[in-house]
This record gives sequence, structure tokens and C-alpha cells, in this order.
Amino acid sequence: MRTTIYTSLLAALPMAALAQERPVLANTSAVPTHYGILLTPSITPIDMFGPMDVFQGLAMAFQNLTGPMHLSIISVNSTPSTTNPPMPGMDFGMALPPTITIDEYLKAAATNFTSIGASSTNSTCHTSTKIPGPLDVLLVPGGGGTRKDVSHEIDFVRTVYPSLKHLISVCTGSTIVARAGVLDNRRATTNKKAWAWATSFGANVSYVPHARWVQDGNVWTSSGVSAGVDVSYAFLASVYGEEVSQWVADVSEYTRWGNASYDPFAERWGPLNTTALNGTAAM
Ligand SMILES: *[C@@H]1O[C@H](CO)[C@@H](O)[C@H](O)[C@H]1NC(C)=O
Ligand SMILES: *[C@@H]1O[C@H](CO)[C@@H](O)[C@H](O)[C@H]1NC(C)=O
Ligand SMILES: *[C@@H]1O[C@H](CO)[C@@H](O)[C@H](O)[C@H]1NC(C)=O
Ligand SMILES: *[C@@H]1O[C@H](CO)[C@@H](O)[C@H](O)[C@H]1NC(C)=O
Ligand SMILES: *[C@@H]1O[C@H](CO)[C@@H](O)[C@H](O)[C@H]1NC(C)=O
Ligand SMILES: *[C@@H]1O[C@H](CO)[C@@H](O)[C@H](O)[C@H]1NC(C)=O
Ligand SMILES: *[C@@H]1O[C@H](CO)[C@@H](O)[C@H](O)[C@H]1NC(C)=O
Ligand SMILES: *[C@@H]1O[C@H](CO)[C@@H](O)[C@H](O)[C@H]1NC(C)=O
Repeated sequence: MRTTIYTSLLAALPMAALAQERPVLANTSAVPTHYGILLTPSITPIDMFGPMDVFQGLAMAFQNLTGPMHLSIISVNSTPSTTNPPMPGMDFGMALPPTITIDEYLKAAATNFTSIGASSTNSTCHTSTKIPGPLDVLLVPGGGGTRKDVSHEIDFVRTVYPSLKHLISVCTGSTIVARAGVLDNRRATTNKKAWAWATSFGANVSYVPHARWVQDGNVWTSSGVSAGVDVSYAFLASVYGEEVSQWVADVSEYTRWGNASYDPFAERWGPLNTTALNGTAAM
């Protein structure tokens, strides 16, 4: 079954890409294979699906070198999240069911993943209810829902961070990571249009205004919305190798943002634009 799916996915890749020899992984020892995405309420679609597409591209082309890759979609309960913005009169989104709830994950973790699986998650919309073990990478997307009650999400990030290999935030997902204390005394960045609000969290965080993304140790934070794609390629380059990252980008016909410090949106939306700072912050 796995082979059939894998083969058919590969068949969808451009032939030119397959005809060329793929690069090898820069480091095959203990590369991350278990990715998790934390479903925040009213998630911004590309915050989640942009990085997911990058990680899926990695899995499709390199899974036979990394070992089986797994994606967990994690939520506070089995009620689907939504991409519908939390604005009056908005009805423009889709439901996003989790593959595992926070409680189920923590329960499995408490037994060192000897009792794995998400038996009570009642979703028919995902491919697998089993998890292979601890998360290696957690992606925390943002969106309008980060301004709602996200206390359970914050607690989860605080609890799980010490066991992760890497943590990545997109947009205002940084506020969840900051409120979990993970950004304390670190360099970080966040959404430029929501800068004033988003940078009010965390202790001694050096928020970098001109940054598409910032890496500080194993914590990667990115700027608004689409920047999640760029931090994901930077992450791949750092962890699996530059050539691997470029391969995945080429297969996606994506032009990577090469300079993490190049950020015209700092002037466009603030914090380097005092006029824009007073505007309505979006997501
Ligand atoms: C390879 O990755 C492992 C695990 O992340 C790390 O401990 C090791 O230092 C890396 N080796 C090299 C040569 O980068
Ligand atoms: C992995 O899969 C790719 C694409 O199908 C193939 O070209 C490559 O030879 C495989 N490598 C290994 C080590 O199996
Ligand atoms: C948890 O399981 C892993 C993998 O099976 C094992 O290497 C590790 O020693 C276990 N840890 C504990 C605390 O039992
Ligand atoms: C799962 O969904 C079905 C159909 O909606 C429902 O009958 C059942 O009670 C649910 N089970 C759990 C454990 O939530
Ligand atoms: C913040 O930095 C100050 C000065 O370096 C230090 O005294 C304080 O403990 C730091 N706070 C936290 C929460 O790390
Ligand atoms: C990256 O962008 C910054 C800001 O525009 C610029 O100062 C710097 O020279 C650029 N670096 C490279 C290597 O192009
Ligand atoms: C600063 O913000 C104002 C108001 O949104 C906008 O008109 C202006 O173009 C922005 N400045 C830059 C350099 O983008
Ligand atoms: C922004 O708002 C503050 C407080 O509401 C006000 O004092 C300041 O003059 C405003 N700045 C601009 C450039 O409009």
C-alpha cells in the first residue's frame, strides 16, 4: 500500500526532476522524520499548507534515504479547526480535523510511545491514526485565532519543546511560542503587520525587524504568512543539506528567498513604518 502510494506520487513529479540524479542527504544520522503541525484556531491557510508542501516534497523525494516520514496534525480536541478568519460575517474557509489530539499525544509520550496511536481521535479525514514515536519537528502556524484563547496550545508547546529536535513558527504562531517561554532570551521575528501586538510576548526576546526568518539554536521563527515557505526551505537546507532543499524547491518550481535579512515588509507595515504601525493589524 505504502509502495503504491509512493510510486503514484513520484509519478506526479516532473520527469525532468526525476531524470536528474538527486542529491544525497548531507547528514543521514538522526534526521527528523516525524513532523507535527499544531492546529491553531482560525489558521491562515498558507501558514500551514506552505510548509506542509515543503515537508511533503522532502518526504516524496527523500523518504527512502531519511526513513519513513510521518506527519501529525495536532489539535486541542477532535473538533476540527478552520481556516475561516474570525471576523464578523466571514464564511470563507474549510474545516481541518486533527490526526491526534494534544491529550492523546501526551498520553502516548507518557508511556514512551509504547502505547502509540490516536485511537479515540474520531476523524475520517486523515491517512493514519498511528504515530511512530516522539515528534522531531513542531510547526506552529499563526492566524487570527492566535488572538483568541490559545492557553492549551501554549501549554502544549511549553511541555513538548524540550523533547523536540526543532521548532518552527510562522507569522503570529510566534506569539504561542513566546507565551510558552521558548523565545525568552532568543532572537526571533514575527508578522510585520501585527508587529506591535506580536512582539509584546516573551521575556528578553530580541525581535528582529528586518527578517524574513530568524534561526536561534533549534528555534526558527518567520515573518508573516508566506514567509513560512521560506523558513521551511532554510530549515531543510540547514538540516538535510542545501542541495536537498534546492532540489525540493526546484521540483515545486519555487524561487527561494535567499537572504533572511532582506525584508521590505518591515518598511511597508512596520515596525519601521510609524504610519503603518497605527493601522489595523491583521493576522
Ligand atoms: C548530524 O545530525 C546529528 C543529529 O542531528 C548531529 O548530532 C550531528 O552533529 C550531525 N553531523 C554533522 C556532520 O552535521
Ligand atoms: C530512492 O528513490 C529514488 C526515486 O525513486 C531513486 O532514484 C533512488 O535510487 C532511491 N534510492 C535508494 C537508496 O533506494
Ligand atoms: C524510550 O524509547 C526509546 C526508543 O524505543 C528508547 O531508546 C529509550 O531508551 C526509551 N526511554 C525511556 C525513558 O524508557
Ligand atoms: C465518532 O463519530 C461517530 C459518527 O459521527 C459517532 O457516532 C461516534 O460516537 C464518534 N466516536 C467518538 C469516540 O467520538
Ligand atoms: C532578562 O535579561 C535581564 C538582563 O540581562 C536578566 O536580569 C533577566 O533575568 C532576564 N529575564 C529572563 C526571564 O530571562
Ligand atoms: C541581505 O539583505 C540585507 C538587507 O537588504 C542587505 O543589507 C545585505 O547586504 C544582503 N546580504 C546579501 C548577502 O545579499
Ligand atoms: C507606510 O505605511 C503607509 C500606511 O499604510 C503606507 O502608505 C506607506 O506606503 C508605507 N511606507 C512604505 C515605505 O511602504
Ligand atoms: C499613532 O498612535 C499614537 C497613539 O494612538 C499617536 O500618539 C501617534 O501620533 C500615532 N502616530 C502616527 C504616525 O499616526
